[in-house]
Amino acid sequence: MRIATIQLENNLILAPMQNVTTAPYRRFSRKFNTIGLVCVPMIYTKRIEKNSKSILIDLYKIEEERPISVQLIGGDINALRKSIDFLSSYNFDFLDINAGCPSKRAIRAQEGGYLLKNLEKLQDILDVAIKFSSKPVTVKIRTGFSSSKNLIDIIKVIESSGVDLITIHSRTVKDRYDDSKFDIESLKLLKENVLIPVIGNGDIFTPQKAKEVMDYTKVDGLMIGRASMGNPKIFTHIASVLQDMSYLPIENNLERMRKHLLFYEDIIDEIDYSAFSFNNKTIDQIKFSELKRNAIWFTRHIKDSKKIRLKISNSRSLEELKNNLKEIYSN
Ligand SMILES: Cc1cc2nc3c(=O)[nH]c(=O)nc-3n(C[C@H](O)[C@H](O)[C@H](O)COP(=O)(O)O)c2cc1C
Repeated sequence: MRIATIQLENNLILAPMQNVTTAPYRRFSRKFNTIGLVCVPMIYTKRIEKNSKSILIDLYKIEEERPISVQLIGGDINALRKSIDFLSSYNFDFLDINAGCPSKRAIRAQEGGYLLKNLEKLQDILDVAIKFSSKPVTVKIRTGFSSSKNLIDIIKVIESSGVDLITIHSRTVKDRYDDSKFDIESLKLLKENVLIPVIGNGDIFTPQKAKEVMDYTKVDGLMIGRASMGNPKIFTHIASVLQDMSYLPIENNLERMRKHLLFYEDIIDEIDYSAFSFNNKTIDQIKFSELKRNAIWFTRHIKDSKKIRLKISNSRSLEELKNNLKEIYSN
């Protein structure tokens, strides 16, 4: 798949997810799969403007992860310009604009999903991004703010701005993550009405669902988020089914979890956290949170795992977590 001048190895994308798709997570996922593009989750332009050191870890050696996109969220033109300027010293492939975040904070700050109910503002933001970014600009949207009836108007603004790719999480901003509101028709409508590549996103939890969505909507690619949590081979499985090939389902057991988490630990240990600031957290606390949440996601794929999940959840330090994991594997 080609976006602007950049050739991706396939049409599967790891979604940006704050506090999930961190540098170790993206590196770990790529070790198991070919993933066309990975994304740095949203960075607030206001935080860059305020010179907040805490965002620097988000950009940790991103040049090693190319192709990679960096996502900005913000409704303030000056902060956006400054952020683009700040990012110019980093080596990445796409600048993605978040026009879909449904959080109250984003809507209050008139950014993210808010832009879908103020198309003039959406246009201004995209115009500035295109004008000042030296990287191709992409945008991630939802189907609308409170309904999808303005989708065609949204598409017109986006296409006329000159962005190179649209990713759409196929529900409205108001619907947040409501399971019943995944809207495949809007995905199809979007694809039928634009010339630039469209990436479909939302609720793709199985390779079969991925194929259904691709076949029905004819979107150019898929973005996968939550299905990758604790399930690092999902991209390989989806790629097989999209090529009408079968795949060997993985056996979810403690041995698999052990191997994967040891591997994850190695990746965490390769990251040099010492150069970053973490709002008074120690490096061990950062490593602890990283490992703990991934350990919990792995247990979700194991039968009768309530007890081990509880043991992991109750761990209070990196050392305790590692000891608890050892105990879990040995039983
Ligand atoms: C914990 C979490 C954090 C997220 N952070 C971002 C983000 O930073 N930027 C963004 O565009 N979307 C974000 N999303 C939305 C995902 O990128 C994706 O659109 C959504 O989860 C639907 O895809 P899925 O069903 O495959 O997970 C986040 C989602 C989750 C669950």
